[in-house]
Amino acid sequence: MVVAISSNRVIGKGGKIPWYLPEDLQMFKRLTLTHPVLMGRKTFFSIINQLGKPLPQRQNLVLTKDEKIKKIINQDYSAVEVFSSFEDAIAWVEKNEFEKVFIIGGEKIYRETLHKCQEMFLTEVDANFDGDTFFPEIKWDSWVAIEKSTWKLEKKCELRYRFCHFRRKT
Ligand SMILES: NC(=O)c1ccc[n+]([C@@H]2O[C@H](COP(=O)([O-])OP(=O)(O)OC[C@H]3O[C@@H](n4cnc5c(N)ncnc54)[C@H](OP(=O)(O)O)[C@@H]3O)[C@@H](O)[C@H]2O)c1
Repeated sequence: MVVAISSNRVIGKGGKIPWYLPEDLQMFKRLTLTHPVLMGRKTFFSIINQLGKPLPQRQNLVLTKDEKIKKIINQDYSAVEVFSSFEDAIAWVEKNEFEKVFIIGGEKIYRETLHKCQEMFLTEVDANFDGDTFFPEIKWDSWVAIEKSTWKLEKKCELRYRFCHFRRKT
């Protein structure tokens, strides 16, 4: 799972991430490049709105139960795989022998899958934000910190943030 989260657990507002941290976007790219990325329908269209295309050099996997939307995505983005359930998406990942899949949001997908994830790459943004989508409460006693970077400062917006990597306790 990969997520950037504010101090009050906000992850989104109005279909977007409510901060701009270029280094976080670079980290996200480094981490996920060549691996499949699984996302909800709203996050997929948020990426399309901002980037004009699916995430490049990664197999984009999208969850929706809406047959019409499924058709539209299949028509417009032939390289994108669309699934009606998390289980179907995971079956596809296994069938295609990918070593791992990154779950990249949004709230609905994080809530449904956090308990199934083995690793969490969490960018902590050291401020409260207004938002309409949130990351679920984390049961910290199930996770061990592998790495926490020092706090970094994005000078333009004076935001402090750090990169954290957690692994589920066995
Ligand atoms: N800060 C971050 O790191 C980060 C990362 C990603 C996204 N975000 C933000 O999160 C917000 C979007 O989150 P969201 O919760 O509103 O939407 P979302 O999770 O991206 O998408 C929700 C949709 O996914 C589909 N879906 C969910 N679970 C499914 C399942 N088990 N099977 C089939 N389809 C399923 C449904 O689509 P249908 O309704 O079509 O059936 C559902 O309405 C945006 O603001 C975005 O910018 C933030």
